[in-house]
Amino acid sequence: MTIYRHFYVKSHAKTSPDINLKDLPGSAGRLDVLARSVNAAFWLSYGIRKNVVFHTILHGEPNAPVYIRLEGEKLRKVSPDERSIAIFIGKALKKFDEKHEAESTPGIFVARKSFEELLEENKDKKFYLLDENGEDIENVRINNPFFILGDNVDLLPEEKEIALKYGAKAVSIGKKSYLTSHCIAILNWWMDRNEG
Ligand SMILES: C[S@@+](CC[C@H](N)C(=O)[O-])C[C@H]1O[C@@H](n2cnc3c(N)ncnc32)[C@H](O)[C@@H]1O
Repeated sequence: MTIYRHFYVKSHAKTSPDINLKDLPGSAGRLDVLARSVNAAFWLSYGIRKNVVFHTILHGEPNAPVYIRLEGEKLRKVSPDERSIAIFIGKALKKFDEKHEAESTPGIFVARKSFEELLEENKDKKFYLLDENGEDIENVRINNPFFILGDNVDLLPEEKEIALKYGAKAVSIGKKSYLTSHCIAILNWWMDRNEG
C-alpha cells in the first residue's frame, strides 16, 4: 500500500499568470521559494516521488486565495528547475476558474480554496505543523502525514489556530530556522530513513 506524503506551503506569490521569469523573487512575490519547495518535495536524483502531493495557497495580488495542487503520480513534463516549475504555476493561474477545480496540465490542479477548506477536505490525514518550537521530530511518530509550512514568512497566528483546531501537532526539526525547501528535503529524508 502506498503511503502518501502531503506537503502544504503557504505562499505569498502573485495570483495573476503574467509572471516575469527573470524576477521570481521580486515581482512574482517570492515564487522562487515556492518553486524550490516543489523541487524538494518531488525530485530524487533520477526521478520523481510518486507518493508526494504538494498543496499551496497563493496569497499575493490580485486574486487571492488561489489553491494549487501537484500530484506526483500524474505530473508530466515539469522539470526540477525553478523556471520550469514557475512556468507550470503560471499555466495553472491561466486556467483558474472561479467555479470549478481545473487540471491545467497533467497532475496540476487549480481552484478557489481557503486554508480551512483545505484542512477540512484532508481531515482523514494527520496534520503536522512545522514549527521551530514544536515537539522534537525524534519523539514523534509520523503517520499518514500532511505537513504544514510557511514560506519565507511564518504562518499567521490565526492560521496556526486553524491547524491546531484540526488536531495538528507542532513538530520541530531543530532550534534553527531553516528555509522551507530545506525543511521539506529533511522531512523526505527523515521519512525515507524511517520507512518500513
Ligand atoms: C523560513 S521559515 C519562516 C521564517 C521565520 N519563522 C520568520 O517568520 O521569520 C519557513 C518555515 O519553515 C518551517 N521551519 C523552519 N525551521 C524549522 C524548524 N527548525 N523546525 C520546524 N519547522 C521549521 C516553518 O514552518 C516556517 O514557517
